[in-house]
Amino acid sequence: MAVRGKARAYGNIALIKYWGKRDEKNILPMNSSLSLTIECFYTETEVVFDDSLNEDYFYLNDELQDKTTTKKISDFIDLFRKAARINMKATVRSTNYVPTAAGLASSASGFAALAAACNHATRLNLSHRELSMYARRGSGSATRSIYGGFVEWKKGTNEEDSYAVPIDDAKWDIGMVIVIINSKEKKVSSREGMKHTVLTSPFYKAWVETCEKDIKEIKLAIRDRDFERLGLITERNGLMMHATMLGANPPLSYWEPDSVLAMNVVRELRRKGILCYFTMDAGPNVKILCRLSEANIIKNKLKEFFDEEQIIVTGPGPGIVLL
Ligand code: ADP
Ligand code: DP6
Repeated sequence: MAVRGKARAYGNIALIKYWGKRDEKNILPMNSSLSLTIECFYTETEVVFDDSLNEDYFYLNDELQDKTTTKKISDFIDLFRKAARINMKATVRSTNYVPTAAGLASSASGFAALAAACNHATRLNLSHRELSMYARRGSGSATRSIYGGFVEWKKGTNEEDSYAVPIDDAKWDIGMVIVIINSKEKKVSSREGMKHTVLTSPFYKAWVETCEKDIKEIKLAIRDRDFERLGLITERNGLMMHATMLGANPPLSYWEPDSVLAMNVVRELRRKGILCYFTMDAGPNVKILCRLSEANIIKNKLKEFFDEEQIIVTGPGPGIVLL
C-alpha cells in the first residue's frame, strides 16, 4: 500500500527577524516575527508513504541525500506518522527553486512544502494554523511560509500557541528586489548562528526588547499602508539583528563587501526620492523592499554595479498550494 501527497510552498523574507530560540526542541522563538512571502523562490515536495520500504529516502534536486540530512527529514515526518498512526516509511522528492542554504529562505519553503505534502498524504486535514505549527518544528521560518503576503509568527506561550497568522495580502504595490551576492551554501547555518548569538551576545536582551516594539509598529504601518514607516522599521530591525551577531563572542558576520555596496545603492536611491529599504538574513544577499511599480528603476540602478543575473524582482507570493 502507498499514499502520496505533493505541495508547493513559497519562501519568505522576514521584515522583523526571528533570531534566537527559547526552546530548541520545540522551536519556540524569543520574539514574534513578521515576513513577506515572495513568489520568486519556492519548493515543490512529494511524499510517498509506502509499506514496502524499510527506510526513508530523501532526494533533494534529484540527488539522494546522506544519512544525516535524511535523519532530519525522518524526524520531521515522524510527527505526521505519530499523529496519523501510521508507520510506513517514505520517499521524499523535493526540488528547490531557490539556492539551498544560502540565506535565501530554502529552509522556510522546504519545510512548509514538506509539511503540506505530509498533511496531504496522511489525510490528517490539518488547518493552516496547525500546519504552521508542524512546519515550525522543521524550521522556524517555515512557520510563516504556510500563508501568502505579510505574515506574523506569534511567539506564543507554549508549543500549542506559537503559530503563524496572515496579516495582509500585500497586494498594494509591494515588491522586493533581491541582489544575489553569493548563492553558495553558508558556513554557519542560521540554527548555529542564532544559538551562538543568544549564548554570547550582550546585545541580545536589547534585541528582544526592540522586536517587541517593532512588531507592534510594523503592524500599524501595514494597517495604515504607510510604506515609508514599513520600510524604515524593516531596515532598522534587520541591521539590529546583525548588530547582535557582531556583539557575539567570537563575532559572527554574514556580510561581504558587495553586501555593503548594495546597501549604499539603496541609500543613494532613497536620497533621490525612491522609497526602498534593505534587509539581510543569515547570508550575504541583500533584499530590497520597494514599490513593485518602482522595482525596475531600482534594478536599473543596481545594474551599474552588479550583473543582471544577480538581480531578481519579485512580488508577494501566495500560501501553500497542493499539487
Ligand atoms: P536558508 O537560508 O536557505 O534557509 P538555513 O541554514 O536556514 O538556510 O537552512 C538550510 C537547511 O534547510 C538545509 O540544510 C536543509 O536542512 C533544509 N532544507 C533546505 N531545502 C529543503 C527542502 N527542500 N526540504 C527539506 N529541507 C530543506
Ligand atoms: C535570519 O528558520 O532557518 O532568516 O529555526 O533553526 O531552522 P531554524 O532557523 P531558520 O532561521 C531564519 C533566520 C532568519 C530570520 C527570519 O527568517 O526570521
